[in-house]
Amino acid sequence: MINQKSTERSTMEIVKSPYSFYEEIRSIHPVYKGSFLKYPGWYVTGYQEALTILKDNRFQTRIPLPETTKKYEVLKNIQNDMMLFKNPPEHARLRMLVSHKFTPARIEKYRPFIEKIAINLWNEIKHKKKIDVISEFAFPFASLVIAKIIGIPDNDKNIFREWAWSLIQSIDLTRSRRAIVNGNKTTLEMLSFFKDLIQKRRQSPQDDLISELLYQEKDRKLTEEELLATTILLVIAGHETTVNLISNSLYCFLTNPKEYDKLVENPSLIESAIEECLRYESPTQMIARVASEDVELNNVHIKKGEHVYVLIGAANRDSKQFSNADVFDITRTPNPHLAFGSGIHFCIGSALARREAQIAIQTLLQNTENIYLETKEVEWRKLVGFRAMKEMHVHFDD
Ligand code: HEM
Repeated sequence: MINQKSTERSTMEIVKSPYSFYEEIRSIHPVYKGSFLKYPGWYVTGYQEALTILKDNRFQTRIPLPETTKKYEVLKNIQNDMMLFKNPPEHARLRMLVSHKFTPARIEKYRPFIEKIAINLWNEIKHKKKIDVISEFAFPFASLVIAKIIGIPDNDKNIFREWAWSLIQSIDLTRSRRAIVNGNKTTLEMLSFFKDLIQKRRQSPQDDLISELLYQEKDRKLTEEELLATTILLVIAGHETTVNLISNSLYCFLTNPKEYDKLVENPSLIESAIEECLRYESPTQMIARVASEDVELNNVHIKKGEHVYVLIGAANRDSKQFSNADVFDITRTPNPHLAFGSGIHFCIGSALARREAQIAIQTLLQNTENIYLETKEVEWRKLVGFRAMKEMHVHFDD
């Protein structure tokens, strides 16, 4: 039986300082039974335990939205059609339809257009000498890249920012009922937008993901609802976390000047540097699961139906797995972080996200001198499942 010391933390305390909170509950037990933000369940902070759970299909995705009401029925239905919320065997069918578009080899082919997007954006903003990295660089960059892959016209991409914010808010544990109802409204807007676009692609197919999925729909490999859900999932997943990886990475460099200098002196460290950013300030901090049967794990007994919150941001700072876990070290090898999850739901976009972050950080660091944060006290968004800054103002000379 675990010694259940009380650990009372407000949401804002957790958001401001998640790593000391993780350490506190890990010191009680790496699989801690408790209740945070009114969600009772098992909070997993140990690396090995997190990995075991993510690879074990007895822990199923996903904790459904609270009881169905008409107020968020559309959001619930669309979630039910997303691979992220599916379990075997249906999960593999949906995943297979798009995974080939995101393999490392395919992403390598996208590299020239990703680099071009980064440099064009940079040329538009470099004269400013002071920017909000999130709204003026990371967000338009990630939007243009995913929009091109999926097949969304350039002039429509700006609407994604509000959609992404609203949907992320509706799935985070901090969500209020209002956030869920808002998520429902956003889903309705997205459905109307994508139904329209799909109609256009039916009439004149292009070389993009939507047109390819339409062929598969014709072959009855997926329904129209699943096609819409897959497109919406890719747009949201492709934006939000990638934007946060780019801004969190820059934040890591600007607050760790020695590692910044190391990378500027040796640009070939970019790949291991981004892996370290993924570990150190993981854009996704939590993955939720439900036990589909009773499971014994590290001396605890998890009962069927209990909720399990895998804190990957904590697992990535577990000193049993990573030496000097709280030190940001861009030469760290090996670095088997869990920032993209593990098991059957391992992030489909990992190769794309890695490449985008490498290109974005290289573009910023190679083209600026004397880049610094306006204030070290950045404001983190009120989310516990994601690590995301509200804004990130930097000054630079080009
Ligand atoms: C830094 C950027 C990213 C991070 C940190 C991230 C993180 C994750 C994590 C942790 C999961 C597993 C969720 C779970 O097990 O419940 C996941 C799944 C997923 N991600 Fe990402 N992601 C990123 C970028 C992307 C991009 C760019 C795309 C789209 C192209 C994408 C598409 C997906 C999809 C479709 C899934 C669901 C896979 C499945 O259910 O089989 N992600 N991501």
